[in-house]
Amino acid sequence: MAGLIKWRNSDSRKLSSAREGEEVKLIGWIFTKRVHSNKVFFMLRDRYGYVQLVGDADKLGKRFSEVADIPVESAVAVVGWVKRDPRAPGGVEVHIKNIDVVAKAEVWPITPSVAKSPDSMFDLRHLTIRGPKSRAILLARSALVQSAWEYFIKNGYVLITAPTFITSAVEGGATLFELKYFDKKAYLTQSSQFYEEAAICVFEKVFVIQPSFRAEKSRTRKHLTEFLHIEAEVAFADHEDIMDIEEELLKYIVNRMEEIVPDEIKYVRGKGLPDVDSRFERISYDEAIELLQRKGVEIEWGEDFGADEERVLSMEFDKPFFVYGFPVSTRSFYHMDDPRRPEVTLSSDLMAPMGYGEITSGGQRIHDYKYLIEKIKRMGLNPEDYGWYIDIRRYGMPPHSGFGMGVERVLRWLLDLPHVRDATLFPRTPTRLYP
Ligand code: 4AD
Ligand code: MG
Repeated sequence: MAGLIKWRNSDSRKLSSAREGEEVKLIGWIFTKRVHSNKVFFMLRDRYGYVQLVGDADKLGKRFSEVADIPVESAVAVVGWVKRDPRAPGGVEVHIKNIDVVAKAEVWPITPSVAKSPDSMFDLRHLTIRGPKSRAILLARSALVQSAWEYFIKNGYVLITAPTFITSAVEGGATLFELKYFDKKAYLTQSSQFYEEAAICVFEKVFVIQPSFRAEKSRTRKHLTEFLHIEAEVAFADHEDIMDIEEELLKYIVNRMEEIVPDEIKYVRGKGLPDVDSRFERISYDEAIELLQRKGVEIEWGEDFGADEERVLSMEFDKPFFVYGFPVSTRSFYHMDDPRRPEVTLSSDLMAPMGYGEITSGGQRIHDYKYLIEKIKRMGLNPEDYGWYIDIRRYGMPPHSGFGMGVERVLRWLLDLPHVRDATLFPRTPTRLYP
């Protein structure tokens, strides 16, 4: 088909304002088809949505059977007339004058029995993403990232990118992916935080939106081995400040997503996004432990929450809430200890309610050179592994705080998805490296 470029500005959204009988051009894919003796109904999917096409035997004449034979998921270019019909989705249908098959599809492999098995569906993820639910979720994901980006840019943050190949752990050695880097050993980054900390001495406020990697064998509904990490770091900010920023960011994201993808949210969730309007409650780690113990969970002070504890705890809330003051034993070495209570850190997790649990972790960092070296040793680590990270503290490092937010965790909660793997295009888990 020559001159396809001319079709590029075709857009199913424009149909709602098209005149009855107006000739329109559309490109897209045949999503579904129903064939009757003298009519064929296609649902065409384009970048913007769905539109019903009608092929009429009277008008198409000899070409009717050829048109009716076009397989689903073929890419097509259509010329047709607009007809208003309240029964059609969107109130408009397009009667086919001509339809060219740009790329013919083979028999679509996603049969009802394949659709029953989540594993088979993920084996065919390169195709199943074309389904209306995946499409809506991925559009919502795009809106989430766009909203976070907007929030940071509007508030004077600078976007940086950090390396993926690194030489030492940010979040503990247990979840590091090791790889060969020529004749050296390297790891995949768990977090861009340390690089952000270097950059705040130039820009004060920075953010990243890039993948982080965790060699986490845990087969929960909230762990990926590769996830999209929104992280921010702010100079001259303490732990309270960073909680305020996280709360403001999450509220901004939810409100903006409602503006950008209202239909997709309703399609996936059956209603709007969860309510985040009131101030987020802030409970201490100690209060969280007491609450868990009252609920019969076996956990002692000083232990970290696992997926089960987070589920029980967050079931007690119907709005996002912070848990602050995690014990030193549960947090990585860079956390500042609370000067009023050195057994806990100036740190917090933002939790999604109703069983979802942690969506961000944040806190205040150690900015003092000697203090950082002392803490690294106290945690049983070797200061030599953190050369440049410690070195920044010798050259005017102000008090600073930051946080990381997992995109798939937030989207899973916002859209009530069964698993974080549903919240990303091609998920990576301990058992999935394909497609
Ligand atoms: O709690 P985490 O490990 O904290 C950090 O990495 C800090 N260095 C971030 C910072 O302060 N800049 O990870 C932060 C968030 C979690 O709250 C969670 O939302 C997400 O990243 N996350 C994961 N998401 C999916 N799968 C995993 N395996 C995840 N691990 C963390
Ligand atoms: Mg965390």
